[in-house]
Amino acid sequence: MKERPIVSEQEMLRQREFMKLVKAMDIRPQSYHIVSMGCQMNERDSESIAGMLSEMGMAAEPVRENADLILYNTCCVRENAENKALGNVIWLKELKKDKPELMICVGGCMTQEKGMAAMMKKRYPFIDLVYGTHNLYKLPEYVYRVLTEKRPVVEVMDIDGEVVEGMPERRRNHFNAFVNIMYGCDNFCTYCIVPYVRGRERSRTPEAVIAECVRLQDEGAQEIMLLGQNVNSYRGGGAEFAELLYRIDKLGIPRIRFMTSHPKDLSDELIHAFGELSHLMPQLHLPVQAGSDEVLKRMNRSYNREHYLELVGKLRAVKPDIGLTSDIIVGFPGETLAQFEETMSLVRQVRFDAAYTFIYSPRTGTRAASYPDDTPYEVKSERIQRLIDLQQAISLEVLQQQVGERETVLVEAVSTRNAGAVGGKTPRGHMVNFPGDASLIGKFVEVEITSAGRNTLRGRQIMTEE
Ligand code: SAH
Ligand code: SF4
Ligand code: F3S
Repeated sequence: MKERPIVSEQEMLRQREFMKLVKAMDIRPQSYHIVSMGCQMNERDSESIAGMLSEMGMAAEPVRENADLILYNTCCVRENAENKALGNVIWLKELKKDKPELMICVGGCMTQEKGMAAMMKKRYPFIDLVYGTHNLYKLPEYVYRVLTEKRPVVEVMDIDGEVVEGMPERRRNHFNAFVNIMYGCDNFCTYCIVPYVRGRERSRTPEAVIAECVRLQDEGAQEIMLLGQNVNSYRGGGAEFAELLYRIDKLGIPRIRFMTSHPKDLSDELIHAFGELSHLMPQLHLPVQAGSDEVLKRMNRSYNREHYLELVGKLRAVKPDIGLTSDIIVGFPGETLAQFEETMSLVRQVRFDAAYTFIYSPRTGTRAASYPDDTPYEVKSERIQRLIDLQQAISLEVLQQQVGERETVLVEAVSTRNAGAVGGKTPRGHMVNFPGDASLIGKFVEVEITSAGRNTLRGRQIMTEE
């Protein structure tokens, strides 16, 4: 991975000036609502967006229709993600008819797709601002321009990408935080659009990452999730990912997790970290994508089934109770029934705690989009259903094995289904719901697991005498 330029401090100060200018304007939006789609990388970006908009004097508005500025942070990893984003944006046109001063902004991965910004400019002139993944930090300048020039601003940069430090931020909560350690992806899996829309791999320096972690710790962070499309290829200031983890572990933040890891770069040092680091949680998301060597090769994943299974063996030797999760694609072009069965057998063999399963979705500009694909969609649907059924049965068995255990849960929120219950995660990443109230949010609670549902555990708080 090459060292990449850092956006200059001077430029970031310039953006701060635009924030002040917007804040001082009478005609500016007073409130904002962000719709964050896609992965955690986007969620983290949305925290920076919220930070910038707050600095511009706008208040967060929970109801989309009531906001003066609506921003869509889009995803395009699969066609349905893109359709959802476009559908939502088109719907805003109606809203704007009743509220002409509404400012509509669209950014993120979808707008970075080739030709997309031009198409949006032409077909959706009611959108006030279109920006891409590489110029998010210029949001203040663009908002200022929309307000002063009174016409749409469409700017997407076609570059490899830079590292941006020092954007304002407004985090979703104080107790568990996302920390980006690297951006972009150089792997070019043949089905995937991410390398095209997120640019080349580039890492933050270990110093910048650690300074952020220390700050979060001071603000009360109990858990941090290190983020990158492929954290294993982190290389900042000469340090590899495992070294970075050892340094972060020393800070003493109770829980550390990270995602996503690519099996081809999962080093022995990193595997050993699971045995040695006291704050690293026993959980790893290690997407396998497929169980057949032939399919893996055509996906350009650079590992085979045997290597993947070997990694799983090593991880479990170091940490027997590690919770492994995965992403799996069904119906990759040319996938035969026999090859699909190899995915099924791998899933039976590994017994993931959970797996996110997707039907292959062709993405314009990727190599696989030109591969012949003669499997009918119905057949792909049947296959994915079989895989889902299998994984659900395994997940249930894994969860049932936790019943009777005593676990430390970091409480995240009041349960959406039951106001008298709260939910949080065990070290292994299993969600547990148990009776409790909002006062427990952000705290560690000892819980006895009493039963297992399809995706979550239920438990009760163990009352300790004080
Ligand atoms: N960087 C991460 C994944 C990012 S995308 C990694 O490599 O693990 C998240 C998941 O979406 C991928 O793991 C893959 O399973 C799925 N995915 C990506 N492109 C896809 C496509 N064109 N069709 C279907 N699923 C896709
Ligand atoms: Fe996409 Fe592959 Fe990069 Fe993951 S590693 S983001 S699947 S190209
Ligand atoms: Fe989607 Fe972009 Fe993430 S395409 S999955 S939001 S990196």
